[in-house]
Amino acid sequence: MSAKILDGKTVANALQEDIAQRVELFVSNTGITPCLAAVLVGEDPASQVYVRNKERACGKVGMASELFRMPEDVSQAELLNLVQGLNKNDKVSGILVQLPLPKHLDASEVLDAIDPQKDVDCFHPSNVGLLSQGRPNFLPCTPHGVLQILKHFNLPTAGKNVCILGRSDIVGKPLALMLMQRTSETCGPDFANATVTVCHSRTPNLKAMTTQADILIAAIGVPKFVTADMVKPGAVVVDVGINRTDEGLCGDVDYDALLEVAGAVTPVPGGVGRLTVTMLLENTLKAAILQAK
Ligand code: GUN
Repeated sequence: MSAKILDGKTVANALQEDIAQRVELFVSNTGITPCLAAVLVGEDPASQVYVRNKERACGKVGMASELFRMPEDVSQAELLNLVQGLNKNDKVSGILVQLPLPKHLDASEVLDAIDPQKDVDCFHPSNVGLLSQGRPNFLPCTPHGVLQILKHFNLPTAGKNVCILGRSDIVGKPLALMLMQRTSETCGPDFANATVTVCHSRTPNLKAMTTQADILIAAIGVPKFVTADMVKPGAVVVDVGINRTDEGLCGDVDYDALLEVAGAVTPVPGGVGRLTVTMLLENTLKAAILQAK
């Protein structure tokens, strides 16, 4: 068996074309150009690449972006001051503070300071609360990207056993919330209604869990952690990991080995990462629309 490759580029390009059309319409109706403000603290090379990709993507769909760089040793007060200024700035539709922040900073306090209506990452407690109640304001970018890939390739989650590896606030936890709802705001009931198992570093007999999964989602940040023997033959495997190794970028799954076992698998790079950026554009447009009301 050779797995189907779930190419994120195709999905992202199709969604970005649609976003670009809606941006054009919004600009012509309101005279407002949606604008993403990205805050980057320090010189972390990976974060610099991610932020550059996000800015480039904004340009591609006709949105503005502005980068606010702060030195590694910025104080908590200075960073909070910047965020508060962006909250008040009418030209800014969405605010993104690139994570991780340097250790001396309190990331939760910074993220909580972002106006929930400009919280395009969906990290603010009020937006996470609304998401958990099934009435989202914004949808978190990476989990939403996972749903969009599954939808594009017609791989429904309803009635399926979905196993998520990783319980992070950015991916595992919100994705579990979304998959267990009765419906998805953007993808409908076929891309919700899953039986979700969330596994983590204290899960006993992990293989017994993962081999039950019709859909296995890896979001743990360990290169090639998921080996072929952990996957049920024919299962759909979504790899959210982006790990920098001596041999270049790789995901959380042993991609080459899984090709022989899985029914479908996302590549890294060129998989979920493309969708994360795309769903950020979607949220920035949504924020601009909310603020124009
Ligand atoms: N760092 C890694 N992933 C993300 C993300 O989705 N948003 C932000 N702001 N920082 C990140």
